Amino acid sequence: MRTRHTVGRLALVAIVAVSAACRQDMHDQPNYQPLEASTFFNDAQASRPLVEGTVARGHLNEDALLYTGKVDGNQALLFPFTVDEAVMAKGRERFNIYCSPCHGQTGMGNGMIVQRGYRRPPPFTEDRLRDAPPGHFFDVISNGFGAMPDYAAQIRPADRWAIVAYIRALQLSGHATIDDVPTADRPRLDEVRTPGAAAETH
Ligand code: HEC
Repeated sequence: MRTRHTVGRLALVAIVAVSAACRQDMHDQPNYQPLEASTFFNDAQASRPLVEGTVARGHLNEDALLYTGKVDGNQALLFPFTVDEAVMAKGRERFNIYCSPCHGQTGMGNGMIVQRGYRRPPPFTEDRLRDAPPGHFFDVISNGFGAMPDYAAQIRPADRWAIVAYIRALQLSGHATIDDVPTADRPRLDEVRTPGAAAETH
């Protein structure tokens, strides 16, 4: 019995000694840190190039019209989705944040940055821009135009389209006559023009 116990103990000690030698702490694993040098790969870089055709999650961007503003390589003549009141509200909000500093809230090209000396953009109401297709505006926002920087990083594609829709509204209102305003709403125009007077007369 005693000998068998001793053998058993010795075996246990041997197992512990062997497994201690291969001890591998979880916090110190033999993997590469980002951008670490490698002796394994020929180019000595641990970070591997992306496999050709790799698409990051959420960036499939298959809808060419939505993401490029083009149809068969030409500036789109239509919007990629229905323009409703919510789209217009979004467009106005984004326009006032990102575009009005130069283009002004009415799109006439007299924003504060222009008043302080930046190159003056053309008014959206000019005929050339009224005739320009929606895809042109999407392109200008996405890629910039002349002195204007691009806003691709700041404004996601769907919101760029919302801005384009709102610019269409600005173009329309810039050429609107009193006949375009429903009779019931006309008194409100007076309120906008002369807030004090409107309160007295109505
Ligand atoms: C920093 C000032 C600035 C901001 C902000 C800015 N623009 Fe412009 N934009 C310009 C200037 C300047 C031009 C004229 C560029 C030129 O002719 O070199 C221009 C031109 C344009 C044009 C006319 C392109 C043409 O065909 O003539 C459009 C459309 C336009 N901008 C849309 C926008 C929209 C939409 C936004 C907001 C997302 C925006 N811009 C934000 C300065 C700005």
